[in-house]
Amino acid sequence: MHVRRQLIAGNWKMNGLRADGLDLARSLAVWLNGDGADVRDHVDMLVCPPATLVAPVAEAVAGTPLGVGGQDCHAVEKGAHTGDVSAWMLKDLGASHVIVGHSERRTDHHETDEQVRAKAAAALAAGLVPIICIGETEGERDAGQALAVVSRQFNGSLPEGANGTNVVIAYEPVWAIGTGRTPTTEDVAEMHQRIRADARERMGASAEALVILYGGSVKPGNAAELMAIDDVDGALVGGASLKATDFQAIASACV
Ligand code: PGA
Repeated sequence: MHVRRQLIAGNWKMNGLRADGLDLARSLAVWLNGDGADVRDHVDMLVCPPATLVAPVAEAVAGTPLGVGGQDCHAVEKGAHTGDVSAWMLKDLGASHVIVGHSERRTDHHETDEQVRAKAAAALAAGLVPIICIGETEGERDAGQALAVVSRQFNGSLPEGANGTNVVIAYEPVWAIGTGRTPTTEDVAEMHQRIRADARERMGASAEALVILYGGSVKPGNAAELMAIDDVDGALVGGASLKATDFQAIASACV
């Protein structure tokens, strides 16, 4: 039995037109209330569609066990920020979570820990759970700096007021995202223990409740091994979350 209730979150990234997204979300919701009932009893499942699909997907799955989240939010509530979406807007559409600081945003949009922290703070203020992403590059791992880099990102990206029940952390080694490569179970275990230890320093006893996800090339074939690691409380899944049967298989590997 796992100490914490696990979370399997799907990051659709910039994929999905309305019909595909609705089909995928509806089939997951139907599964959770049918063949996946056993999974539903032990695992939370969440999909994070592109901003354009948050509203229709949230409407389509309202009242089912499937949660809906955003992939990013701005750090302020409203104002002159063309093209951005605020945490309050996502909440208004029915989202419960929002991913912040994903490595693709840290790279494509040069987001810093400070900006990620401000976005996570906005999510908390709006009543969303931020899923705060951290992870080292391949060069940093090769240089023996993975633990130090991730620890620095954790401390730099965690907002004031964060505790073990109002935020989620996703450890995603940059070199494992979309590559089919994953760290060894020992390396994942070591990193998650380190994050838990850092969390104890920042949050005290509530760190025991903190959900720490692993992300990066999680597939049906490796999910059971990764999800069995102590201190791994679920997964943030990219590519494999776009196919209902693969995403269901990953969630099933938790129970
Ligand atoms: P991947 O992506 O599962 O396709 O590697 C994970 C992520 O970017 O969250």
